[in-house]
Amino acid sequence: MIIKGNKGRIFGEVRVPGDKSISHRSIILGAMAEGDTLVKNGLISEDIIRTIQAFRSMGVSIEVEEDGILIHGVGLGGLKKPAEPIDCGNSGTTARLLSGILAGQTFSSTLIGDESLSKRPMDRVIIPLSKMGANIRGRENKYLPLEIRPAKGKLKALSYELPVASAQVKSAILLATLFAQGITEVIEKKTTRDHTERMLEYFGCHIRKKDKSIIMDSEAFLEGKNIYVPGDISSAAYFIVAATLIKGSNLVVRDVGINPTRNGIIHVLKSMGADITTFNERVINNEPVGDISVKYAPLKGVTMDREITAIIIDEIPILAVAACLAQGRTVIRDVQELKYKESNRIEAISKELRKMGAKIEAVEDGLIIEGVDRLQGAEVDSHGDHRIAMALSIGGLAAYGDTQIDNHQCVNVSYPSFYDTLASLYI
Ligand code: S3P
Repeated sequence: MIIKGNKGRIFGEVRVPGDKSISHRSIILGAMAEGDTLVKNGLISEDIIRTIQAFRSMGVSIEVEEDGILIHGVGLGGLKKPAEPIDCGNSGTTARLLSGILAGQTFSSTLIGDESLSKRPMDRVIIPLSKMGANIRGRENKYLPLEIRPAKGKLKALSYELPVASAQVKSAILLATLFAQGITEVIEKKTTRDHTERMLEYFGCHIRKKDKSIIMDSEAFLEGKNIYVPGDISSAAYFIVAATLIKGSNLVVRDVGINPTRNGIIHVLKSMGADITTFNERVINNEPVGDISVKYAPLKGVTMDREITAIIIDEIPILAVAACLAQGRTVIRDVQELKYKESNRIEAISKELRKMGAKIEAVEDGLIIEGVDRLQGAEVDSHGDHRIAMALSIGGLAAYGDTQIDNHQCVNVSYPSFYDTLASLYI
């Protein structure tokens, strides 16, 4: 993919595809609910198709139609043994959330994934699920494939403080609680995205938040619902940063999720001087939604607050691009989790942006960036990681000359129409 830099501005209105995290959860909860669930504006991407296929392989009928994804829920006791191992592809959310559900079934199952996912840590779910009584084994006790056998008796609810800030681990425990006895408490040191909690409540579960704890009653019954999935702020982030960086830009993003556990990117960009306004705020099926307007503005470097790193974790690659063109130094620390994403994102983004003339240094737990006046087009590689491909593409747009993005097809994991939408906004 060739990006022609410095040739236009970002202008117009856009709706981005449905939120990836919320789309996964609507399929998962819809599949285990009583009755039908219609998911409107759900994302259809490689990761989501993995989750759909997983539930189809466990006997759930899921129709992907023009007006939405229609799921005929089988109830909490209705999943069937899959004939083959469940292939999660590149999707960490599929693997980790499913591990919690499969741990509570009366049949055996196996979770597998692609090369990148097979290198990502799974002990973070194996450990708490085993404490709940799950019979779950990974390669080297740490990696996919995960072999999950029926537990001896019912799972036990758990009180657990998350050692790493991870919404996927929190969700695996909460989903396993649907098949357990007792009351689960998950304690978070740092807040992570709370879509699972919100959707469990929307489907009728008894779940509450107290300080840093999420408390869930295992006696649950999920009721099929209609869901509208808001636009994915992590996808919108690329256009928001592009509009901020490119002179003359004026963009409105409609109907995007602005859940406070996801909108950290907006706060960080504003603290850097960005001209961003959120308006038309409302709540749809327990999730905050709004419109966002963005105009070009010069940026200055910042030291990012360590408290919010978990809620901007997916946006660090694109924030790094913004920081490269901000005035002064940006410090992003306490984001070592980036090493365990679809690629080692600390290494990948710093290595590739340096090829474009950026002054960006990878440190043990983050990135230190000195802003430069301009980036220069170069040949760069996505490292097979969708968020690196999209971040570099925006870097290319703001740079002088052409940028060639190698292995750009990985955008299909979360945003198959990314390049078409980018082309339509860049005039
Ligand atoms: C996700 C949680 C995050 C995020 C990932 C999606 C989710 O990972 O990086 O892209 O849908 O729960 P963590 O589990 O590390 O928080």
